[in-house]
Amino acid sequence: MVVREDLQVLSSLQSIVEDLHCQYKSLQKGVVANYIPELAKVSPDLFAVCLVTVDGEVYQIGDRDRLFTIQSISKVFTYGLALEDRGRDDVLTRVGVEPTGDAFNAIILDEQSKRPYNPMVNAGAIATTSLIKGADATERLNRLLEMFRRYVGHDVFVDISVFTSERATGHRNRAMAHLMLNFGMIQPNIEESLDLYFQQCAVMVNCQDLAVMAATLANKGVNPITGKRALQSTYVKDILSVMYTCGMYNFAGEWAYKVGLPAKSGVCGGIIAVVPNKMGIGVFSPSLDQRGNSVRGVKVCEELSRILGLHLF
Ligand code: DON
Repeated sequence: MVVREDLQVLSSLQSIVEDLHCQYKSLQKGVVANYIPELAKVSPDLFAVCLVTVDGEVYQIGDRDRLFTIQSISKVFTYGLALEDRGRDDVLTRVGVEPTGDAFNAIILDEQSKRPYNPMVNAGAIATTSLIKGADATERLNRLLEMFRRYVGHDVFVDISVFTSERATGHRNRAMAHLMLNFGMIQPNIEESLDLYFQQCAVMVNCQDLAVMAATLANKGVNPITGKRALQSTYVKDILSVMYTCGMYNFAGEWAYKVGLPAKSGVCGGIIAVVPNKMGIGVFSPSLDQRGNSVRGVKVCEELSRILGLHLF
């Protein structure tokens, strides 16, 4: 098969996603996340792959209609809204842009600045969410949901069971919020910000939604399906830079080396990857490796990058 760099051989993209789905659906490695009790109920067999080009073409296969909670992939988009709400300089005083090399839930802050290292790990994401503007908890939640709506092109809803399950068990995240409060890094209303963080993680999406969100970033902040802007173009590079260096946690270096694309994973088993000016990739498969990244998702992205020559360098 000939694959041209300009991706004009679009008909081959459907056969590529079908081949990869067929190749990896029998892969049985990894375990479904269970530290949030509601997440443990999901079937490890679920598997979907979707590509959305910046022209709005959609190629997909597998459990395409299955809804799941977006989890850490939300952090990317909340970071964008925080940048719009507060501006780059203000956000940088609260959340750094350094990769940690540590797990996503590590309880660490930068020794010098007392900032969380980056917005992709939990501590940084909680600090980011605390920056979202709004008169009260409802307005802040509505602004977040409206932001997600712009990216996916339809209304989104919070899975209340997953939200309450994480709120009841999220003591580690609560500890991080208290640590940041101790250093004056977040406002005192930490329960409200934690609720908002747990709610943003429990927003329901399907695999095509993930790919459209990634394609929106690939398309400089404009949703390629609706044609509407989701994010000011000036902040797209901020987001993609942080995704590239920190989006896959303590696998970010190997991912950058092998796949070479800005990406973000979530414990739901979702991964998004962005091919700037070309397309967005979404994969959903709930079995995770030890770093919390979808096993099949990593494999599919590695193969897509190799077959289509997507590595940025
Ligand atoms: O805060 C948490 O632990 C979850 N709501 C999200 C974590 C997550 O998705 C990490 N990703 N691999």
